[in-house]
Amino acid sequence: MAASTPRKILVTSALPYANGPIHLGHMVEYIQTDIWVRFQKMGGNACTYVCADDTHGTPIMLKAQQEGITPEQLIARISVEHQRDFAEFGVGFDNYYSTHSPENRELAELIYTRLRDAGHIAKRTIKQAYDPVKNMFLPDRFIKGECPKCGSKDQYGDSCEVCGATYSPTELKNAVSVVSGATPIEKESEHYFFKLGDFENTLRQWLFPREHKDARDMHVQPEVANKLDEWFNAGLQDWDISRDAPYFGFEIPDAPGKFFYVWLDAPIGYLASFKNYCAKKGVSFDDYVRPDSETELYHFIGKDILYFHALFWPAMLSGAKFRTPTSVFAHGFLTVNGAKMSKSRGTFIMARTYLDHLNPEYLRYYFAYKLGPGVDDLDLNFDDFTQRVNADLVGKVVNIASRCAGFINKQFGGKLATTLAEPALYEKFASASESIARSYEQREFSKAMRDVMALADVANQYIDEKKPWALAKQAGKENEVHAVCSMGVNLFRVLIAYLKPALPRTAAQSEAFLNIPALSWHDTATPLLGHTINAFTPLMTRVEAKQIEAVMEQSKSTLAATTPAAPPSALAEAIKLEISIDDFNKVDLRIAKIVKAQHVEGADKLLQLTVDLGEGKTRNIFAGIRSAYEPKDLEGRYTVVVANLAPRKMKFGVSEGMVLAAGPGGKDLWILSPDSGAQSGMRVK
Ligand code: 2FM
Ligand code: ZN
Repeated sequence: MAASTPRKILVTSALPYANGPIHLGHMVEYIQTDIWVRFQKMGGNACTYVCADDTHGTPIMLKAQQEGITPEQLIARISVEHQRDFAEFGVGFDNYYSTHSPENRELAELIYTRLRDAGHIAKRTIKQAYDPVKNMFLPDRFIKGECPKCGSKDQYGDSCEVCGATYSPTELKNAVSVVSGATPIEKESEHYFFKLGDFENTLRQWLFPREHKDARDMHVQPEVANKLDEWFNAGLQDWDISRDAPYFGFEIPDAPGKFFYVWLDAPIGYLASFKNYCAKKGVSFDDYVRPDSETELYHFIGKDILYFHALFWPAMLSGAKFRTPTSVFAHGFLTVNGAKMSKSRGTFIMARTYLDHLNPEYLRYYFAYKLGPGVDDLDLNFDDFTQRVNADLVGKVVNIASRCAGFINKQFGGKLATTLAEPALYEKFASASESIARSYEQREFSKAMRDVMALADVANQYIDEKKPWALAKQAGKENEVHAVCSMGVNLFRVLIAYLKPALPRTAAQSEAFLNIPALSWHDTATPLLGHTINAFTPLMTRVEAKQIEAVMEQSKSTLAATTPAAPPSALAEAIKLEISIDDFNKVDLRIAKIVKAQHVEGADKLLQLTVDLGEGKTRNIFAGIRSAYEPKDLEGRYTVVVANLAPRKMKFGVSEGMVLAAGPGGKDLWILSPDSGAQSGMRVK
């Protein structure tokens, strides 16, 4: 890669919704993008990677209501969680922001008014499903009923998961609002539409340029262009960009009570995050967004959101006189062990669960090893993952350093030889730079990883042949030991440089061990000679089967607590459900003293409590309050427990009751505490 004229590149990954945790399916994209960005930066390009939480819309509004908090509180909490997960996976955003920001409001209003003033917005009255109890229009996903085609129960308002039929919510039989349980009615309302059809020619030219010399002249991947062609042939429909109050989002400037649909301001959030970055760093925003900009703009996305990114988004940008994306790069979905991620099989894995047990670098490498430039799905097969990481990273790459560093440190004061023993061998490694760079640039990460591992094999063969451990035992062979091990360390350095975009943490540890500044792509051209390295510390350990088992077990056991989209009806259902006084009297609520509290190994949500119910009768209870309490702070306290709950066998033992607690979760969870004077065993009435 020639870095003589650094390119100015802006890169984004899709903005995750602010209503649930990041899972491994999301991580495919963030890891893919991060590797590409790190490669660009290593090569000397001015590459900026921005992202944000996607915060608007009905699901987020209802989830906040369900938790008894404001949407702002919800999105603030989720943002912290998302950023923590990304940081631990080594995803190095230059800016992580929120679509609920002043910059985004300003840009959304600007883009909308420019589109409106150019005649690209239409107004029409449409009929939609409406919840007469909650007084709100219902998105398709908030209506359930029987499929009009096959009669299956409990299907969403837009499509049937059983027979695959798609339909409008009015066609559903016995439809109910998921929010209140009421039967939806139809109601009219005026909506605002973006006239996508106005951009047919512009989009066709953008998507199918007559001449494209290389991939950089193509705005989408070839297989995607074919898909888009089908959409063109089906006709470009007007797009409804407004939603009625109540809605969490930005109000449309000239339309009180109407809000921008979340998908209108979400992609604008890319620019808003970048604008926020520019203000902090003194970078010219205009330089990147004006129609004749010479900078590059890339969006990494999942193939499911192509319509938004390859049709609506470039059309909006061009209609509002902004530059259009250089390319939209779509990837496929993640499967785990050959199948769709499944909660019951323990393969619907949250990023946090993975991080609790496994080194993030393993997954970065494995995804890189499997990722190509296309939209094929990617399988995380845990046997293959274990074998691949152990064989390649631990067995091949790290092994080179661990075989050579000890001799350099013990016998030569940490100093490498002043000349290269095998210049041709070094040259073989250094000259791979261009083709590996090409693979990274073209998102052929799989090829890049294979090429690096083939070189690692060559390095190991060299050390196997020279056998420094045998030479070290022979008198007068010191120089040879020095030469071979210095060569080994140099080859290791080149491999680490090539792997650095995929393995940033391992590369940083290696740079510390090699006692060198951060490696850039071009450093591989020259070897390290007469240089003093530091003591070697193991860079990576093997993946153990028990770590994988722990991830899968935890994914099963934390299912209820972490299911991202808890049905928004839960609160409504709970409030609607009345019980008689006789029902209530069946619940035996008792004061109990917590005599012992401890962590439960392998359960990040639970505490194990021993509670005294009076007269020395103790019970063992597993309570999901670990996020809010340290065990020692609970011991000696009184609380309220359901004493006549049937014992439940859990993975960690039998739970013989339930502790009552309230709050949205996380740190904000409080066990009920009686006033002083209450004693163990007293019945709560
Ligand atoms: O599909 C999603 O998860 C959306 N939150 C992605 C938005 S990407 C962009 F357009 F903001
Ligand atoms: Zn059906």
